[in-house]
Amino acid sequence: MSSSSVQALLICHGKQLQNALGLDSDRARIDVQCLLQSVMQVDRAHLLAHPERSLDEDQHSRYTDLLERRLRGEPIAYLLGLREFYGLSFKVTPATLIPRPETELLVELALQGIPPDGPFRVLDLGTGSGAIALSIASVRPAIEVVAVDVSKDALEVARENSKRLNISNVKLMQSDWFSGLIGERFDLIVANPPYVAVGDIHLSQGDLRFEPSTALTSGTDGLEDIRHISAHAKAHLNPGGWLLLEHGYDQAERVRELLNQAGYSGIFSAHDLSGIERTSGGILKMRSVNSENGEGNTKSGS
Ligand SMILES: C[S@@+](CC[C@H](N)C(=O)[O-])C[C@H]1O[C@@H](n2cnc3c(N)ncnc32)[C@H](O)[C@@H]1O
Repeated sequence: MSSSSVQALLICHGKQLQNALGLDSDRARIDVQCLLQSVMQVDRAHLLAHPERSLDEDQHSRYTDLLERRLRGEPIAYLLGLREFYGLSFKVTPATLIPRPETELLVELALQGIPPDGPFRVLDLGTGSGAIALSIASVRPAIEVVAVDVSKDALEVARENSKRLNISNVKLMQSDWFSGLIGERFDLIVANPPYVAVGDIHLSQGDLRFEPSTALTSGTDGLEDIRHISAHAKAHLNPGGWLLLEHGYDQAERVRELLNQAGYSGIFSAHDLSGIERTSGGILKMRSVNSENGEGNTKSGS
């Protein structure tokens, strides 16, 4: 195989990946391209411009190893150790969730509510690789972002990402949700918490098989963590502060209900690029005549 051209590898191994993982042909080809780029240390343009090139012995051995792991289903992001999110390149490891494109909606919504200049405090709960916190902080360098995770290993990765991306306005700390944040208040709290029900069939499929279960599962209905966060975030929000939560494709209505029960107003859900209600939020009511009767709650998909 070491003498095969890049072009031949793309065709042959693209087909193998298609068959082994049920990927469509474009996805399979892109995966092979990514593995080749990684071992050859070249960009995509170079790879496509030199289809006749072949791998040297060392590159061939590393490529074979990566291809075999990919054929067994390991996520391409873990094999490369990187994933692009909101235009930034994040290190990822099996200790972190692989940031998803749909989570960029949460970042967009958060940025809409953050003034260009500080002071403004944001809390990112369950930061993982730091994708949400660091993306927000990179666009709003004048604000303060606090990012917590229960996983020490995930925080190590987030710390490395903040260094690699040269982002200095994110404070990372280990905390079981709000337990390490006593007395702290924020203008905006964001979270992409675990929201898959224990036993959900999707956990045994695709990338999810390789991701940490602490990043994925949340009780028998998938809502245990969202329930906890909705109930406790209020004590950590400044008056007029927002809570924004990503949730499962079929959870928007129940999340709006939880926010309503917890006493938020201006409750809304926003759609991701696939048209799915993916992120819901609400504002901490200012003290008012209507503050106890749930008035002001709305549903407005965007
Ligand atoms: C769905 S992942 C989200 C990761 C990252 N924010 C993203 O969007 O890519 C959920 C994260 O919550 C963290 N987590 C789970 N339980 C937690 C807890 N009790 N306190 C703090 N973080 C927790 C997990 O370690 C994981 O990093």
